[in-house]
Amino acid sequence: MPIVYHEHTKVFHIHNRYFSYIIDVLRNGQIGQLYFGAPLKDRENFTHMQVNERRDMDPCVYEGDQSFSLEDTKQEYPVTGNGDLRNMAATVVNPDGSRYADFKYVSHVVTPGKPKLEGLPATYVEDDAEAETLTITLVDEVTKAELELSYTLYADRPVLARNARFVNHGERELVLDAAMSANIDLPDARWNMLDFTGAWGRERHLDERPLKTGVQSIYSLRGHSSHQFNPFLILKRPETTETAGECFGVSLVYSGNFLGQVEVDNYHVTRVMMGVHPEGFAWRLGPGATFQTPEAVIVYSADGLNHMSQAYHELYRTRLARGYWRDRPRPVLINSWESTYMRFDEDKVYGIAAKAHELGVDLFVLDDGWFGHRDNDESSLGDWFADPKKLPNGVEGLARRITALGMKFGLWFEPEMISKDSRLYEAHPEWMIRVPDRTPLHGRNQFELDFTKPEVVDYIAEQMEKILGTGLVSYVKWDMNRSMTDVFSQGRPAGFQGEVYHRQILGVYALYERLTSKFPEVLFESCASGGGRFDAGMLYYAPQGWISDDSDAIERLKIQYGTSFGYPISSMGSHVSAVPNHQVFRRTPLKTRADVAYFGTFGYELDVNKIPPEEQEEIRAQIRFFKDHYDLIAHGTFYRLISPFGANPVGLQEGAETAWMVVSPDRSRALVGYYRAHQPVNEGYRSLRLAGLDPEREYEVHDTAYRMPQVDGETFYGDELMHRGFDVSDSGFGPWTTWIYQGDYQSRLFEITAR
Ligand code: DGJ
Repeated sequence: MPIVYHEHTKVFHIHNRYFSYIIDVLRNGQIGQLYFGAPLKDRENFTHMQVNERRDMDPCVYEGDQSFSLEDTKQEYPVTGNGDLRNMAATVVNPDGSRYADFKYVSHVVTPGKPKLEGLPATYVEDDAEAETLTITLVDEVTKAELELSYTLYADRPVLARNARFVNHGERELVLDAAMSANIDLPDARWNMLDFTGAWGRERHLDERPLKTGVQSIYSLRGHSSHQFNPFLILKRPETTETAGECFGVSLVYSGNFLGQVEVDNYHVTRVMMGVHPEGFAWRLGPGATFQTPEAVIVYSADGLNHMSQAYHELYRTRLARGYWRDRPRPVLINSWESTYMRFDEDKVYGIAAKAHELGVDLFVLDDGWFGHRDNDESSLGDWFADPKKLPNGVEGLARRITALGMKFGLWFEPEMISKDSRLYEAHPEWMIRVPDRTPLHGRNQFELDFTKPEVVDYIAEQMEKILGTGLVSYVKWDMNRSMTDVFSQGRPAGFQGEVYHRQILGVYALYERLTSKFPEVLFESCASGGGRFDAGMLYYAPQGWISDDSDAIERLKIQYGTSFGYPISSMGSHVSAVPNHQVFRRTPLKTRADVAYFGTFGYELDVNKIPPEEQEEIRAQIRFFKDHYDLIAHGTFYRLISPFGANPVGLQEGAETAWMVVSPDRSRALVGYYRAHQPVNEGYRSLRLAGLDPEREYEVHDTAYRMPQVDGETFYGDELMHRGFDVSDSGFGPWTTWIYQGDYQSRLFEITAR
């Protein structure tokens, strides 16, 4: 796993068997980018890769010499002021107001393992032999500001984790107006950008565009990573597919405002950067102070998108998620939200829990509405004590009854928020984020607490600790239902205000850290009006997150498929809900709802007392099935097979089919989900080609319900299943027609077992 430094040429070659990443110290002491791609044999000199054409308008560094301009140099971390006129990774504002810093190479060190990031989530190692970290120190001689660029190379993964850290060793205050986590300049622009976009209820839909000259970007200015864009982008060659070709991802381990930007300059150089969004950001760096950027995780694949995603899955499942629940089977849960909303009392929710327990559910989660006097979304956030009307015996009374069933009990909180109609607001109006003398903007009738103030975080922590300290709560759903607006920390000076967005998220992380350390066995699930903060930062604290408030199985196909590009299925909160569905009013079969939800952290969100006995029995069987296949699903390798976003076989309506599968690490078992949104009419033949199997082994295919005679019980070698596939044509009639499994919104689940 070498990180090699060639002293003579000042070249760093960061490489393993998956990729090479090559940078050098430029003539002016700054760091240049030479190569990122498939692994190259090491050699002393790669500097010829930095081709600089002389261009007359370029601002040049050395007088009388027109051969060196940063405008025309591929760089590693461009900083404002040096003649590069593209977008910058960092901007330092000096005491005299100049926007200039000249960070020159001073030294570097390669250390085994991976250091922790102060106060921020990040990937980690369990053993120093898993990775090496290169830290390059650069200094601006005039201001004595220091910049450390850090690169962790994992030995057995196609992963490079980067961050930057600023230290002010000078005597005067500097201000950082931008400080991205990573920048890469690539020598050509023949890439397509993939990102994950949407809105509430349709999060992380795949979006693809060829790069064009100029800037293309994804971002959030909402104070959370957002439903609109995810802090994750991919560049792939236009011809790259799920199974072949070059691509790489850049994922930010962060949950606040971000910018992921790809700029193609006029000479076809592609500049990719990712980090905290510079808008609304101005960080004061007093003498001795430091600023640590979040981590950007870069994954390279020469073998298509599935390989790239699998590297993220494995890394985030085992080296980002932490703690007691990381490797343990997660409970099958039932959540009260869609069955009762805020209209419930102790007996009603107990009745749902008791029935669910009888069917095999492990955990009952009481969602919003249990505290203060919260009968609608206009009150009580911040008052974390039980509403005596609904829970006369308190949370404890209900929790005791439920745990006496042999079931676990979980509870919803929205820790970062405050309602004007609350005791907390009466006592501490100054704890609310708002601009003085302006009317504060509400979102869902609520306001944000100022988590930049440690006393606010402490207060909320203490309220939650009182409840978690009873030992009766095994799970917390941590919700967050509004974006940050009119951002201002009351009572703080003007210079502080540019730090509020980032400090707010640091406060959220501090509270997560405190609670997860104090209650290591409590399972945390993150949530933000569904998937408004589903990101790598959250996964560090909460190993699972609610991916969307849209619980319709057909809508979920797109959401789960899109999310799978960067996140493991073991992190995706996915539930079976009632029909007609509460978001899109669609009626899908119970089987389809479960067949989709199995590929996530499985659970239910409906009133099990209100469904017919045969459906209750079906649920019992589903839970048994999920538990029997838990290991395969949670720890298997996930492959996307057919995209719900189109590019389907000729003939069938665009996006009408979706397929994915998980394969056990030893390739002896697999589970394939095949979903068809629309019943075709007298359609052409279609086959489903699998992936990840052993070509040499013989497998038996079992259709778990539909019993298609052309495949069920048949055996095939892995090579045939992967290269020819098996037939899933179904144009309406045939000897195996059963009405139950035909029509729109159908799914089939195939078990593949090596003989
Ligand atoms: C938004 C969440 O995504 C829902 O699941 C639910 O918890 C509601 N908030 C409760 O207000």
